[in-house]
Amino acid sequence: MSGADAAAAVRRVVGVPGTPEALRATLADFSSGVTVVTTTVDGVAHAMTATAFCSVSLEPPLVLVCVSRTSRFHAAAMRAQGWAVSLLAADQEAVARHFSDRGRDLATQFDTVPHDAAPQTGVFLVAGALAWLECRTHARYDGGDHTILVGEVLSTSEKSRARAPLTYYRGSYS
Ligand SMILES: Cc1cc2nc3c(=O)[nH]c(=O)nc-3n(C[C@H](O)[C@H](O)[C@H](O)COP(=O)(O)O)c2cc1C
Repeated sequence: MSGADAAAAVRRVVGVPGTPEALRATLADFSSGVTVVTTTVDGVAHAMTATAFCSVSLEPPLVLVCVSRTSRFHAAAMRAQGWAVSLLAADQEAVARHFSDRGRDLATQFDTVPHDAAPQTGVFLVAGALAWLECRTHARYDGGDHTILVGEVLSTSEKSRARAPLTYYRGSYS
């Protein structure tokens, strides 16, 4: 069988248009880790739960996070140079819920969450997280209704003992 015949024999599956609803439903099948992104602007600490985080490059060391333009964190992230990502542990679901609650008071949002300060920027890190990365904004790109924030990694947490991560899949934490 020729390559063309083989390709023609492959079953063409049925799809649905890439509407926001379809995209939301499909992406729910992608199991992801859960992070809290943090920054400080004018002395005020900001934070947001985010799963749209991923590695970009090792040399130079780059990571990205996608930040919704409608989030309050977005305004802070556009002004900040330094920011950090805390990778949550399995026992930190309450932290993830807290920093994704749109009704929370930004001025007091860290009062109930144990935190440390990142070595170079002083940005808050969620205590007890599996790991953290401290970044300086490298680039910002248009990502539709999100901004793709790329950070140069300034420092990371020390290698630690493996612990279970908090994950998010089909609308549930596990
Ligand atoms: C599991 C989970 C993952 C989320 N991931 C992201 C994300 O990657 N980017 C984003 O902009 N918002 C994300 N959100 C929504 C924000 O956490 C939420 O809108 C938050 O309240 C925004 O912060 P704000 O209070 O500054 O507006 C996520 C929410 C949940 C529950």
